Amino acid sequence: MTVDWNPAQYHRFVEERSRPARDLLAMVQPTATQRMARGVDLGCGSGELTAMVADQLHVADMVGIDSSPAMLADAQAHARPGLHFQAGDIAEWTSLGDHQLVFANAALQWVPEHDLVLRRWRDGLAPGGQLAVQVPANAHMPSHVVADQVAHQPRFLEAFGTAGPPLDPVAHHVLAPEDYAVLLHDLGFVEEEVLLRVYPHVLPSSRHVVEWVRGTTLTRFQKRLDPDVFEAFVAEYETQLLDVIGRHEPHFFPFRRILFWGRLPG
Ligand SMILES: C[S@@+](CC[C@H](N)C(=O)[O-])C[C@H]1O[C@@H](n2cnc3c(N)ncnc32)[C@H](O)[C@@H]1O
Repeated sequence: MTVDWNPAQYHRFVEERSRPARDLLAMVQPTATQRMARGVDLGCGSGELTAMVADQLHVADMVGIDSSPAMLADAQAHARPGLHFQAGDIAEWTSLGDHQLVFANAALQWVPEHDLVLRRWRDGLAPGGQLAVQVPANAHMPSHVVADQVAHQPRFLEAFGTAGPPLDPVAHHVLAPEDYAVLLHDLGFVEEEVLLRVYPHVLPSSRHVVEWVRGTTLTRFQKRLDPDVFEAFVAEYETQLLDVIGRHEPHFFPFRRILFWGRLPG
């Protein structure tokens, strides 16, 4: 069963999600000419961030790449001369070493083997090129832990079949902040900055945590379950999650993220 990303669900918390994106953008250093020739936004989603990056950094030729047809369809609204969107797999992306910027906000966590993927991304950079990446680092939080507990209940285990429940990509793919620091060094970045940051979100109620993760981590279960079974999964998830985090209005939702930036020698 194929279930695409849902841009509307993802955008329900657009203000909260845009803060780390803006922080990541601020980590990129202006170039001496104040203009970048080529940049790429990997896992660009619906494209507004790609446009913001292109505008603020004066990127002459910016491409957003994503594998979701629904996200790319929305992204096309931002296309203009010098800003394009195309389908592709960010795990395989590289170029001839002619990019001044590789940017990836909240996307790298979906693919494994970050050492290999970041090597490919590094190979796509020109001398002096910059890499800027943000990934969630919240796999230990109830929002993720409870999802996996529910997935292992017998009735859902059966629905996932012999392949078993989908793994949590944040738990299995995302490295420790210091591992990214070492990796950037080993890949030849002569300047780097790695931040572990907690974003303090105040949601209208505890139930809104469910709505938040429906647009992100729960999509991996949605892809594997029939619609009625998925709705039963979400209902059980909500009950168990609220038992753990409590029922509050408003609800304080801390969200840990890693932001890292590096520049190659010029
Ligand atoms: C959480 S959204 C982030 C979107 C955007 N970067 C932002 O910050 O608003 C993650 C995006 O990564 C894309 N994605 C996940 N795995 C991918 C892959 N292997 N290749 C290309 N895109 C991928 C999804 O389709 C989705 O649009």
